[in-house]
Amino acid sequence: MTEQRRIDGKRLIIASHNKGKIREMHFLLGGLAIELVTAGELGLPEPVEDGTTFVENARIKALAAARASGEVALSDDSGLCVDALDGRPGVYTADWAGPNRDWSMAMRLVEEELFKVGASKPEQRQARFVSLLCLAWPDGHTQEYLGERQGTLVWPPRSGPIAYGYDPVFVPDGEDRTFGEMTAEEKHGSIWQAPGPLSHRARSVKALVEGAFPVGIRP
Ligand code: IMP
Repeated sequence: MTEQRRIDGKRLIIASHNKGKIREMHFLLGGLAIELVTAGELGLPEPVEDGTTFVENARIKALAAARASGEVALSDDSGLCVDALDGRPGVYTADWAGPNRDWSMAMRLVEEELFKVGASKPEQRQARFVSLLCLAWPDGHTQEYLGERQGTLVWPPRSGPIAYGYDPVFVPDGEDRTFGEMTAEEKHGSIWQAPGPLSHRARSVKALVEGAFPVGIRP
C-alpha cells in the first residue's frame, strides 16, 4: 500500500477558482482549526484540466497549486453522471456549460440528451453526483478521497437563492426537493453528527478529514 500522510501544517490551499465549490469547501471545512486559502487569493494560475477521469483532473489541479505555492493543496474534481447517458457529462460536466459557464444552458443540454433517449420516467432519469478530492504535497505525493450521492433528474429546474451548478435539477434519493431548494445544512448534512454527510462533497470531505487531517483537529 502506498504511503498515507497526514497534514501537519496550519493552513491548506484550496486549489479551485470555482466560487460555488469554494463556498461549499468553506462550509464543510470551516469549523476545523485550519486556515483555508484559495488559489485565487494567492494569484495562482488555473491549470488546464485535460485528464479523462476525475482522479486525473483532481491531481492536475492539486499538484499545480501545491508546486506553485510550496504548500499542501486540496482540489475537488466533480461532476454529474447520468445513467441513461452512459455516465455523461461526467468529467465534462463543467464543459457542458460552455466558456461562459452558463449553467442554465448546461442543464438544458442534459435535458435535451435525456429527451433524445426517451428518458421521461423518474426511473429512467437516475444520476449521481461525484466529488473526488485530491490532496497534494509539493514533492508530488497525492492522496484521493471519493464521495457520491445518488438521485433523480427533474425538469424544469427548481431553485432557491444559493443554488450552484446543476443543483436545481437534482433531487437526491429520499427527498422531494432539489439540491437547489435546500439550505447548505440540508444539502450537506453533517460530517460529525446525525444525519451524517448527505452530499457527495460532504462524503468526500469526511473521508479526507478522517484520513489526512491531524487527529486533534476533529471535533
Ligand atoms: P470541475 O470539478 O471544476 O470540473 O466542475 C464540476 C462541475 O460539476 C461544477 O462546475 C458543477 O457544475 C458541477 N457540480 C459539482 N458538484 C455540484 C453540486 O454539488 N451541485 C451542482 N453542481 C455540481
